[in-house]
Amino acid sequence: MYDLLIRGGTVVLPSTVASVDVGIVGEKIAAIGDLSGALAHRRFDATGKLVLPGLVDPHVHLADEEADKDACAVDDFYTGTVAAAFGGNTTVLDFAPAAHDHSAITTVRSRRHQAEGEAAVDFSHHAIVEQDTLVSLSTISQLPSHGTNSIKIFMFYPRMADDYALLQVIQTAAQSNLLVMVHAENHALLNGFQTATIAQGGTAISHYPASQPPILEIEAAQRAILLAEHTGATLYIVHISCAATVDLVRQAQRRGCNVIGETVPHYLALTEEVYGSPNGADYLCGPPIRTAADSDALWQGLADGTITVIGSDHCGFSAAQKAWGKDDFRRGPKGMASIETRAAVVYSEGVAKGRITLTQFVEVMSANPARIFGLYPQKGALLPGSDADFCVLDPHLEWVVTHEALHCAWGYTPHQGLKVTGKPVLTVLRGKVIVDGDVFNGQPGDGRFLSRGPLRKG
Ligand code: URP
Ligand code: ZN
Ligand code: ZN
Repeated sequence: MYDLLIRGGTVVLPSTVASVDVGIVGEKIAAIGDLSGALAHRRFDATGKLVLPGLVDPHVHLADEEADKDACAVDDFYTGTVAAAFGGNTTVLDFAPAAHDHSAITTVRSRRHQAEGEAAVDFSHHAIVEQDTLVSLSTISQLPSHGTNSIKIFMFYPRMADDYALLQVIQTAAQSNLLVMVHAENHALLNGFQTATIAQGGTAISHYPASQPPILEIEAAQRAILLAEHTGATLYIVHISCAATVDLVRQAQRRGCNVIGETVPHYLALTEEVYGSPNGADYLCGPPIRTAADSDALWQGLADGTITVIGSDHCGFSAAQKAWGKDDFRRGPKGMASIETRAAVVYSEGVAKGRITLTQFVEVMSANPARIFGLYPQKGALLPGSDADFCVLDPHLEWVVTHEALHCAWGYTPHQGLKVTGKPVLTVLRGKVIVDGDVFNGQPGDGRFLSRGPLRKG
């Protein structure tokens, strides 16, 4: 007797796509195959739908705060993860802001404490490491024994603009089997281009892309790759936005360097013309949205396996907060609310338009993030013994993305008005149906902290 039986769907398994049934007992997948004669307490008819492992969003900033702008995100760990669940996610990996005492341990401990009892899907954290963390480098090496195997570095001031500091942190991470995630933008170039752009054109949002051109990302990515090669670290470049960085990653991978590339839906589905629109400030993010050629190169990188992860880079600022940047792009908070729309946008723009396959979709949205961050096959796979986490997606459902239809109070979406084909319609977290159509059945604290030990190399 199964607790839940998902029948009749097209199921994406690790090595094949098959029309099979999935039986769940308690929190785990118990059987996959022809279960037509089986008894179950609850059944879900997935005929005509895709049955996928619960999606893993490896890049979210929940309950975010920008200290210098007094801009707190409008979501918290509960409302943000409810929205995540409506987007088919059963696991989110959130960024823990660096602690005031500079200890990486305090960083992840306090963030875990904040999320526990609130999160509605499973969660874990990357520790943000800032320049001052150098005073306690040794705490970085202790992170794996506190359930965290990844750190994030912003390669600009005041976070980490000093190359020697950067090298020391990357070296420490390499020695401790921690993954190094970098936001690759060069600090001095950012300052210079911003000053020149404002001097020549002013602060209107239409000038924002010129103030942070691709060379910022390309230079920083190149430098991070060199430091990773020098130290033997595994490097993960977050939110890659442009064609040249895809090429850098491709070349580094060919040389045998352990470099992982991530991109995000807004660089795939939008182009820089958005900064000329009346609500251009909605699209403030770093790096800026680029050209159609860059977006094509990102899709190509996904198709050929150079880019292996799509995160959301979710930041839950409201429309009102984003509008602060309307007349001066320096004033708006960077980052966009996209935790709920990642799957639908990528499925529609990617799979439905033939740019990536269904199997690749599952790899980049679930299996690869789970593997890279040490959660596979508990997460990211439909296998007997794996957590019974599912995203059931209706590939035929046509709808239009509007912020009114989403499940958090951001008041805008970067994909407003986008016609999409495909939508997550059922989300199951460890055997519990938490989203069924428009209904949320979960509760605060359904989500559990996922402890992630030292990374396996290779
Ligand atoms: O603009 C962005 N990307 N904001 C979120 C924080 C970050 O840099 O990842
Ligand atoms: Zn970033
Ligand atoms: Zn981010």
